Amino acid sequence: MSTPNYYKEGGITFPGDIVPRSNLELVKNFDIRDDDIMIITYPKTGTWWTHQIVKQILASEGVKDETYLTDVANLIEFSIPQKGGALAELFKTAPSPRLLATHVPVEFLPSGLLGSKAKIVVVMRNPKDTAVSSFHFYKKVPQLKTPESWESFLGEFLAGDCPWGPFYDHVLGYWKLKDNHNILFLKYEDMKKDLPAEVKKLATFLGRPLSEEAVQAVVGATQFDSMKKNVGDKHGLWTRKGVIGDWKNSFSDEQSRAFDDQYRERLSNTGLKFDFE
Ligand code: A3P
Repeated sequence: MSTPNYYKEGGITFPGDIVPRSNLELVKNFDIRDDDIMIITYPKTGTWWTHQIVKQILASEGVKDETYLTDVANLIEFSIPQKGGALAELFKTAPSPRLLATHVPVEFLPSGLLGSKAKIVVVMRNPKDTAVSSFHFYKKVPQLKTPESWESFLGEFLAGDCPWGPFYDHVLGYWKLKDNHNILFLKYEDMKKDLPAEVKKLATFLGRPLSEEAVQAVVGATQFDSMKKNVGDKHGLWTRKGVIGDWKNSFSDEQSRAFDDQYRERLSNTGLKFDFE
């Protein structure tokens, strides 16, 4: 495999082997339908998990499998040659309701999304676990640059020099929209601590409230062990450990202190905070 091809657009780094530059234009011009559901995440913060939960919620109304163009999450900025190319092209003719996902920062969203009636679900995860999860993922995926070491990777994460841009700019860009009624904010840690409550909240937000029994069925199908067993993720790309606090196995005390300083600096007075255990 040749060296991954990265490029910058609007100051943000993108991995060109999976997100060709021309796809950003396709995403900007992507026509949103009022019954679309869009999951927005920074990479490694629970994208696929949330995707699976929404899929389970939609299953009860008979949404067919062809609505899901990928086996993982339908990231509209991606090109997947085996599926026929740019997902933003392929989705133009997909049946409604479409379940879409993206990692792009807010300024790269489809221009009609925020003014539409589409339901937007933003999922966030504490940045220490996000960094560790990313480190392991980047080691395994050929289209992403293999980190030289945990230390160098963490330096890049802290400097914001990573694909899809700096973590804090990404989450704060979306957090500014917190009063928009069409956007639900979920946190990975809340989902881990009380999945039934978050499933219920999500289903209600999507206008598809569930009975207690249906909530339990969704929870059963989407907790970590069931997903790991059922989805054939042999290399653990999307189901690695699935816990809160794995960062403690990678961060030194010094690294943790430097990280905490930046966390405080970027998030104090924003009302946005995360659980680290
Ligand atoms: P870890 O690498 O910390 O284990 P994404 O889908 O955005 O790429 O996120 C991947 C992260 O979500 C991985 O974190 C993965 O294990 C975790 N994950 C996936 N399914 C999960 C589930 N059902 N419960 C908890 N975590 C899950």
